[in-house]
Amino acid sequence: MTHPTIIAPSILAADWGCLHEQIRAVQEAGADWLHLDVMDGHLVENISFGPAFCDCVAEAATVPLDVHLMITRPDTFWPRFAKVAKNITIHTESSCDVAATLRAIRAAGIGCGITLKPGTPFASVEPFLADVDLVLVMTVEPGYGGQPFIPEMMEKVRAARDARESRELGYRIEVDGGINAVTGKVSIGAGADTLVAGTSVFAAPDMAAAIRAIRGVD
Ligand code: DX5
Ligand code: ZN
Repeated sequence: MTHPTIIAPSILAADWGCLHEQIRAVQEAGADWLHLDVMDGHLVENISFGPAFCDCVAEAATVPLDVHLMITRPDTFWPRFAKVAKNITIHTESSCDVAATLRAIRAAGIGCGITLKPGTPFASVEPFLADVDLVLVMTVEPGYGGQPFIPEMMEKVRAARDARESRELGYRIEVDGGINAVTGKVSIGAGADTLVAGTSVFAAPDMAAAIRAIRGVD
């Protein structure tokens, strides 16, 4: 099963001083989803924003919100994002019952995703594949935008694609970190269908052209 390509600009790279203008502009420019990078300073070496900021994004958003919880306790915090999120993705490295948390998110009628850091083997997410709507392969060490793409992560994207085919599953395959027109093409070629892009979109002089280039239509 394959999916149409989704481009999900990461709000982490937006100018928060004019947040709602940036959201309207990137939606105008063709964003399919908005990606929200929540960081707690424990699971990753940075603190970004929390539920209140996501609620503020939701006030201006007209596209679905794709929430990426880079936090150690998604089991206790995911409900705080439930009102606004289309999907909530949690890390396999988090300190909780991951399977139970994924079940709880899905039971709330929200898409659930599993993700893994570059140093974590793909095998760590295999137990969850039958119970998720999305597999997110981190293509940078999570914590900061603007880092270089790690090409070795395409092995995990291919593994996710092969597992989806062989087990007749239906999840989306998302990549996140260092995605631009070049690395987006490589990722789609390996099997990714959902592309998070922060810097390459928000730092672009023409966001619509940047999104089209990542989508590969131009
Ligand atoms: C990093 C975040 C990514 C990041 C992507 O921890 O998960 O979503 O914001 O930003 P770029 O596209 O600038 O690498
Ligand atoms: Zn992210």
